[in-house]
Amino acid sequence: MVHINPKSSSREQWGDKLGFIMATAGAAVGLGNIWRFPYVCGENGGGAFILAYIICIALISGPILVAEVLIGRASGQGSGSAFISLTPKGESKIWRFVGVVGVLISFLLVSYYSIVAGWTLEYLWQALQGHLSLFSGDNSQKFFDNFMASDSRQILWHIFLTCMTAVILLRGINKGIEKLSKILMPVLLILLFSLAVFGISVEWTSHENPTSLLDLKSIQFLFVPDWSKFTMDSVFQALGQAAFSLSIAVGTLIAYGSYLDRKENIVNLGSMVIAMDTMVALLAGVLIFPIVFASGLSPSQGTGLIFVTLPNLFSGMPNGDLLVILFYLLIFFAALTSMISLLEPGITHLIDEMNSTRPKACMYVAIASSALGVIWILVGSLQQEFLFLNIDKIVSNFLIPLEAFGISIFASWVLDKVISKEQLSNAGELFFNIWFFMVKWLCPIAILIILVKGLISQDMGG
Ligand code: ALA
Repeated sequence: MVHINPKSSSREQWGDKLGFIMATAGAAVGLGNIWRFPYVCGENGGGAFILAYIICIALISGPILVAEVLIGRASGQGSGSAFISLTPKGESKIWRFVGVVGVLISFLLVSYYSIVAGWTLEYLWQALQGHLSLFSGDNSQKFFDNFMASDSRQILWHIFLTCMTAVILLRGINKGIEKLSKILMPVLLILLFSLAVFGISVEWTSHENPTSLLDLKSIQFLFVPDWSKFTMDSVFQALGQAAFSLSIAVGTLIAYGSYLDRKENIVNLGSMVIAMDTMVALLAGVLIFPIVFASGLSPSQGTGLIFVTLPNLFSGMPNGDLLVILFYLLIFFAALTSMISLLEPGITHLIDEMNSTRPKACMYVAIASSALGVIWILVGSLQQEFLFLNIDKIVSNFLIPLEAFGISIFASWVLDKVISKEQLSNAGELFFNIWFFMVKWLCPIAILIILVKGLISQDMGG
């Protein structure tokens, strides 16, 4: 017997399909696209990595995205209770656990995601005050190191950003998430497109003396595969990136699906989100690679690429202050819409499970997430790189795949096929059968291989 929550009929819904697309694309597009994708791609053979990434999206992350939205919409519940409300009694305990773990992952993830998002605010703040010399030459590395050593500034931005996100979420699905996403996502696309055109239309003979000639050489790097740098590990990295970038297995897609009208076509909407997310990742590469290659640097510089190298290069250019402002505004907008989507599962959970009001739920989640982030900053300053080498690896390479495994098993082996068929009825019988096969066999097997590989190599798959 299936237990649909009676409250789900009175649940707030997205105003229209564009609202869902923009909010979900906002969840997907984030630091993962603009910060992580370019350098992981740089390390793993450029076009070869992109090919593997697109295959992973089509065969694994995409089908799981559809499964999550479907579970959310069918149950009308957030991740914490969606699974049990769709499960016959008796099988519930394990599925309750899987659902709550999804909420916990988003909570854990946002507690450190907001720290990096806060860094972009510090750069934006300095650039807005015209302090561009902080980023030029050797100053750039010094500025970054000093900022990393300043717990108080990092804490300030982290708490400010978490509270700001909670205030947006306080306004609810339509007036908060949807309204803001409909403004920020188009602005983000325009900004990214303009900066990418700028990136390829400048020939970087040196960063002090760029001349305006169309240079497509470094773009070839993105699209022409270099198989010599593509290893088995690249496949695992492509899958990890495809999962992180689409925000699968963090409770977001189930929560967002629970606010989706029953007449909407999940597959069409999901495809649009995937197309936008992939386009943004590629455009970020188009923006960043020409600059990196022309300055003789490696495209695989991790954190330093965005917080040391690029501000340094931009600051030496004509209108450098404007470039720095636009660049960090772009990253900030991308991070903000993702933060919104990562705080929402916890809020939806408190509303669904604890009968909390939205304002109270926002307040509790914001306080808890701020506190956890402060702990990461304080611990991180004692043990360098603790944050990203350990917590992020556990979340991205272990918890997310484990949760994704649970979701694919639930959607194909446990959930009544009548429900999934009905939810995907407007996508056609053939699509349903293909999707069902992928979620039932391909996704769990591929994820298991990744988990086992991660455990065997004893470094969580990194
Ligand atoms: N999907 C979000 C990102 O890529 C979390 O940053």
